[in-house]
Amino acid sequence: MMSLAIVYSRAQVGIEALPVTIEVHITQGLPNLSIVGLPEAAVKESKDRVRSALINSNFRPPQQRVTINLAPADLPKEGGRFDLPIALGILAAMGQIPSDTLDQYEFIGELALTGELRPVRGILPMALQVRRAGRKLVLPDQNADEAAMVSHVSILSIKHLRDICNHLDQHPTITPRITTEPPNPALAHHIGDLSEVRGQHHAKRALEVAAAGGHNLLMVGPPGTGKTMLAGRMPSILPPMTEAEALETATIVSVASAGFDPETWGIRPFRSPHHTASGVALVGGGSQPRPGEVSLAHHGVLFLDELPEFDKRVLEVLREPLESGHITISRAAHQAKFPSNFQLIAAMNPCPCGYLGDPSGRCGCHPDIVRRYRSKVSGPLVDRIDIHIEVPNLPRSELHNTAARETSEIVRQRVLIARQQQLQRCGKPNRLLNNREIEQFCQLSPQDERLLDRAIEQLGLSARAWHRILKVARTIADLSRSESIHTSHLTEAITYRRLERQG
Ligand SMILES: Nc1ncnc2c1ncn2[C@@H]1O[C@H](COP(=O)(O)OP(=O)(O)O)[C@@H](O)[C@H]1O
Ligand SMILES: [Mg+2]
Ligand SMILES: [Zn+2]
Repeated sequence: MMSLAIVYSRAQVGIEALPVTIEVHITQGLPNLSIVGLPEAAVKESKDRVRSALINSNFRPPQQRVTINLAPADLPKEGGRFDLPIALGILAAMGQIPSDTLDQYEFIGELALTGELRPVRGILPMALQVRRAGRKLVLPDQNADEAAMVSHVSILSIKHLRDICNHLDQHPTITPRITTEPPNPALAHHIGDLSEVRGQHHAKRALEVAAAGGHNLLMVGPPGTGKTMLAGRMPSILPPMTEAEALETATIVSVASAGFDPETWGIRPFRSPHHTASGVALVGGGSQPRPGEVSLAHHGVLFLDELPEFDKRVLEVLREPLESGHITISRAAHQAKFPSNFQLIAAMNPCPCGYLGDPSGRCGCHPDIVRRYRSKVSGPLVDRIDIHIEVPNLPRSELHNTAARETSEIVRQRVLIARQQQLQRCGKPNRLLNNREIEQFCQLSPQDERLLDRAIEQLGLSARAWHRILKVARTIADLSRSESIHTSHLTEAITYRRLERQG
């Protein structure tokens, strides 16, 4: 009888699937099952589930002294996901299943008391690592579709502990599933089309410029003018995701929730958390840190409606992802870093009642109140939003204008061409240009430099605004396929900072 068995699995840290070795040792002594390397609270539950799953699968539970060691010890480990490898390790160490092929596999899955498998989180990053390790992945049936998003890895999906024991015991009974091609992007039926938005030509143009350069966008206007409608259509004019982007976004969903839905593969996320959402829900956190909305929006759009209503501290936290493309979550024991490279779209009313400047004169907000309202979003965050626009009430004539409007696909083609120019020039969208790159790629004629100087002085803008205007002007030039920035490009870029003066 063999007394030691080794089984491979993976823990989940941030968005990574780190290797975990499960060693099961059986020695003479009083019957006792001990687990080392799992948090105290998880140990008892895991023991109970494993023992009962073994009995209900018609195996003998161990009658000797069993020591189970999960290494390395310092990884944060959630108990449930190791049930399956622990059970198999016990069976192999007791000689109830053969152990000679165990090292070809990695195992993951929570056991029900009946021996049935329950799905776990974070399958996608695990499948990627199992492929890299050259092993086969054994997992709960309900996780199989998610794992199959990763090509060229053998997936053995099981419903019950018995399934895999039979497979290991006799000649193989489970046919591995192997995806040979990366998946096709899903069709985003649910995203509305830009052609549904009436009027608001200025706003649509700004949305296109924002999409083309990856710029963040702030919309200010009374209720019901189409701000939410416009923001929701941003993903429909952004470039399609690359496979690497799709994989990253899917990985975040995979570790955040019970699983990634293959139906959403390759669709840029659009996240619009409510302003009452908790800080953890927005930026991520928890004792086993999980990604929040800012990470679920990775490679897509984060829409903050009613911006001034958000907790100021939460808005402050957005500075890190806006600058670095990731967010760090610190907990006493561990630090987790999640990708968080999103395009921010924010919307707000011009005043607390929403009708400041309305021709009806129905706004009765005192100027002090308006100032306090605006000041909630002033400062560092708004400073990082390249494009500010007004979205006013729609004139009657536009409401009944039946002329054909451009579809998202047509706009997206222009966005794509502008993006390609940026990628060739600098390998990234214009929003991410640093100061040195701005000096190099966003040069103005001497007259235009004076024009920009005067505008900044008149509008009372900060020194930062200078660089932001140049980046946006660069994008506008790219949209008109111009290598140099012309006066018309610059003046349009300046209009996107006007609101700041009133703020
Ligand atoms: N410009 C527009 N074109 C077409 N429909 C509009 C427009 N603006 C508003 N609507 C209609 O009014 C509803 C509310 O618009 P919404 O985008 O929520 O406005 P806001 O976010 O500015 O308050 C939309 O669902 C849409 O039916
Ligand atoms: Mg709205
Ligand atoms: Zn008002």
